[in-house]
Amino acid sequence: MGVQLDLFNVRAIRRDFPILQQRVNGKPVVFLDSAASSQKPLQVLEAMERVYREAYANVHRGVYTFSEAATAAYDEARAKIARFIGAPSAEQIVFTRNATEALNLLAYAYARAFLREGDEIIITELEHHANFVPWMVLARERNVTLKFIPITPEGLLDLDAFERLLTERTRIVSFAHVSNVLGTITDPAPIIARARAVGAVVIVDGSQSAPHMPVNVQAMDCDFFVFSGHKMLGPTGIGVLYGKRELLEAMPPFLTGGDMISYVGFDTVRWNDVPLKFEAGTPAFVEAIGLGAAVDYLSALSMEAVRAHEQHVTAYALERLSEVSGVRVFGPEDPRRRGGVVTFTVDRIHPHDLASLLDQQGIAIRAGHHCAQPLHQRLGVSATARASFYIYTETEEIDALVEGIEHAKRVLRVS
Ligand SMILES: Cc1ncc(COP(=O)(O)O)c(C=O)c1O
Repeated sequence: MGVQLDLFNVRAIRRDFPILQQRVNGKPVVFLDSAASSQKPLQVLEAMERVYREAYANVHRGVYTFSEAATAAYDEARAKIARFIGAPSAEQIVFTRNATEALNLLAYAYARAFLREGDEIIITELEHHANFVPWMVLARERNVTLKFIPITPEGLLDLDAFERLLTERTRIVSFAHVSNVLGTITDPAPIIARARAVGAVVIVDGSQSAPHMPVNVQAMDCDFFVFSGHKMLGPTGIGVLYGKRELLEAMPPFLTGGDMISYVGFDTVRWNDVPLKFEAGTPAFVEAIGLGAAVDYLSALSMEAVRAHEQHVTAYALERLSEVSGVRVFGPEDPRRRGGVVTFTVDRIHPHDLASLLDQQGIAIRAGHHCAQPLHQRLGVSATARASFYIYTETEEIDALVEGIEHAKRVLRVS
């Protein structure tokens, strides 16, 4: 497999993350759960604190200095995020609470408006519940058929099977760009080409790709792309829906109230232009500004370098874990085909016991079904352990994980 050279200055990066300077249970913290949520650098914390300290007031509502400054910073954040994912305009960036809300927005405002009984939606067996349950609920409510692209034994999408699932009734194809369990990176191009051929719209769940690799939604030519700010150095409470302009304009609103209207009379209401049509009520503008700072941080590193670093760490983790007896790793073997997520089981140790024992060593991993229960059914396991990496992950932390697993085996006498 061969571990490639890593030119990332992780030591310098770690100094920007105060939380990583802490000790947990008397040990230096080893944080290996960034796929669930990433840690935050000072630059993001300070950007948000600056708004609260220096220019806080509601956006879009005041003509006074604080409100104008906050509105300008909010608009600038939207523009930064548009540039970050290669969107043609800032108006095509809708702020949501998170990826889950963005997917629900699509299930309500797009699918419920445009799908008819007997229409079909295709997702995949490896989806996070966020890209599963909204479609399942819709399918039941509207008599729409939900189909699943199966995975191969290696954890890749079976594109031949996808071809067979497509019909002239397929209206939506929605899939994870990177799996939060298997790490599988799915090339959107062949899926989008085939979906287009039957006139379906394509939704890409970028929750695990936008934080970790270069993304260009125009080059990808997806119809919608969603992600969460908190997984990419930003705060909680802010997510993004990108959409093609004509689709966003054709869709009815999701939530209604203030800000999303251009006129309200006693018997009429006119919607605001996109993206504000989809942003009812006071938005999480401080969080959006924080996400803008996160995007600045990532862009300064370059997303190519972020990806190269994570591939390096992932290759190292795959190599080290393969040396531990009783460890079974899921997902593609080739680190070039996977993101910085390594999901595994250890023979005769429940993942929760492993996670608790690792915590005693200051090591944080995730244990459970990772919000992908159908995928776990497909894999034939009820729970797994998951280590996930980011810009601040050092290979020494992988060594600590491997030692921690060996320690757990000794404690539980399964060596
Ligand atoms: C692939 C994928 N999609 C969607 C989500 C949902 O993200 P959020 O909980 O921020 O809405 C996650 C979170 O883990 C994810 O990994």
